[in-house]
Amino acid sequence: MSEQAIDFARSNHKRFLGDLFDYLAIPSVSAQPEHADDVRHAANWLCRHMQSIGLTASVMETGGHPIVYAEWRHPDPAAPTVLVYGHYDVQPADPFELWHSSPFAPVIRDGAIFARGSSDNKGQHMAHVKAVEAYLQSAGSLPVSIKFLIEGEEEIGGPNIGAFVSANGTMLACDVVMISDSALLSPDQPTLLYGLRGLLYFEVEARCAAHDLHSGTYGGNVQNPAMALAQILAKLKNEHGVISVPGFYDDVRPLDAEERAEIARIPLNDTSICDETGAQTVFGEPGFNVPERMGARPTLEVNGLWSGYTGSGAKTVLPAVAHAKISCRLVPNQNPTAIYDAVVQAMQQAAPIGVTLAFTLLQNGTRGTLIDRQAPQVQAAARAAQATYGNPPIYTLEGGSIPIVNDLQEVLGKPIVLLGYGLPGDNLHAPDEHFAIACYEKGIEASIRFLAEL
Ligand code: BES
Ligand code: MN
Repeated sequence: MSEQAIDFARSNHKRFLGDLFDYLAIPSVSAQPEHADDVRHAANWLCRHMQSIGLTASVMETGGHPIVYAEWRHPDPAAPTVLVYGHYDVQPADPFELWHSSPFAPVIRDGAIFARGSSDNKGQHMAHVKAVEAYLQSAGSLPVSIKFLIEGEEEIGGPNIGAFVSANGTMLACDVVMISDSALLSPDQPTLLYGLRGLLYFEVEARCAAHDLHSGTYGGNVQNPAMALAQILAKLKNEHGVISVPGFYDDVRPLDAEERAEIARIPLNDTSICDETGAQTVFGEPGFNVPERMGARPTLEVNGLWSGYTGSGAKTVLPAVAHAKISCRLVPNQNPTAIYDAVVQAMQQAAPIGVTLAFTLLQNGTRGTLIDRQAPQVQAAARAAQATYGNPPIYTLEGGSIPIVNDLQEVLGKPIVLLGYGLPGDNLHAPDEHFAIACYEKGIEASIRFLAEL
C-alpha cells in the first residue's frame, strides 16, 4: 500500500507542487491585523483542499484566528490514530526590500520554492496532507486513522489553541502526535527532535520624567531612562554570558554523561555557528558546547531596545522613557511564571534611583518539552526516516519553540514525533524563506512510510 502511495505521489509531483503554490500565495500573517482576512482565507483554502482529497474537514472558531480540523477514520477502530499538528499562519514578510522575489508570489529558484511560509510551516504540513491524498487516491484508504490540527496563531505564541486543545481532548484523542516544523541537519541526515525549548517574552518600560526634556536645561539633574535601562540590563548577565538572576538555573535539567556523549554526535560546532551567522566568534555559557547551549541551556536575550531620538541628525533631548523586549528560552523543568518573577525582581533590584519600571507579559509563557526517544511511535518515525533519507536519524534538542507542544503532550498523554522536513538554511522568519522541492517530495514519502510503519 505504501509503495502504491509513493508511486502516486511521484507521478503527481507537478500537481502537488501547484497546490502548495496556491496555498503559499495567501499572505496569512497572523501578527498583522490588516491580514486577518487573508489568515481566514488560508484556513478556508486548507479546509476545502482537505475536503477535496477525501477528509472530513472544518474551520473551527477560537477567540482569534480559526483552527482547521480534519480527519479520516479507519473502518477498524483498533487501527492507531495519528494527530498531525501544523500551522498555516506565517511570520510577517518585512523587510520586503530584502527579498529577491515577492514573498507571496512563490517561484522556484535553484531547486527551491521561495515564499514566506514555504518551510515554516505550509510546505511541511502539506507534505502530510499530500501523503494522505496519495494513499486515498491510490489505495482508497490509509493504514491508520488520521486527524489534522492546523492552527493560525503559532507565530504569535498560540494564544487560543491551549483552551481549544483542553476543551477538545476527546476529538483530538490519538496514539501519537506528528509534527514537522523543524529541519534536517543536512539533506540526507534525518533529525528527530527529542526536546524543544519553551518561551517567556515580556516588555519593560523604564520611566524617569513625565515627558521628554531639553537635555541642556535638565541634563545632569534628572535620571536618564536609557542609561538606567542599560545599567539594569548589564546586571542580568556576567561577562561570560552566564545569567546572574538568582535562581534562574535552579530547575534546569542536568545532562548525564550518556546524553552528553549522544549530543556530542550532533554536527554543530563553533565553526558551523560562525559560518551560518556571520558572527566573529561563538559566545556563550562556559562549560557547555554549541548543541548543549542550543537545546539544553536556557537563555535571556534582549530582542529590541529603544529610547529617545533615533531619527537622522542630532536632537538634544533627554528621553522620558526607554523600552526593551526581552525573551527567555526555557528548558525542561523551568517554570515560566517563576522565571518571570525572578527576572522582574532582579531588574527591580538593579534599578537605580529615579526610575520606575513597568512590565508587560507579551505571551503566555510555555515550558520546554522532552520526548521519550524509546517510544515505539518515535521508533516508527525513525524507520520511516531511515528508509526515506538513507541514514538513521540523529536525535537533537531544538532551541526554538512550538508553543502548543507541551499542552498536546500533557492533555493527550501520547508521545510527540518531531520529524522536520526543512533544511537549516531555509531562512525561517527572514527574507528569501525557501523550501527545497526535494524536501517537499521526501517529506511526502517519509509521511507515507511513517503511517505504514505505525
Ligand atoms: N518552526 C518554528 C520552530 C522552530 C524554529 C523549529 C527553528 C526548529 C528550528 C516555529 O514556527 C517558530 O518560529 N516558533 C516560534 C514561537 C514563538 C513565535 C512563540 C519561536 O521559536 O520563536
Ligand atoms: Mn516560525
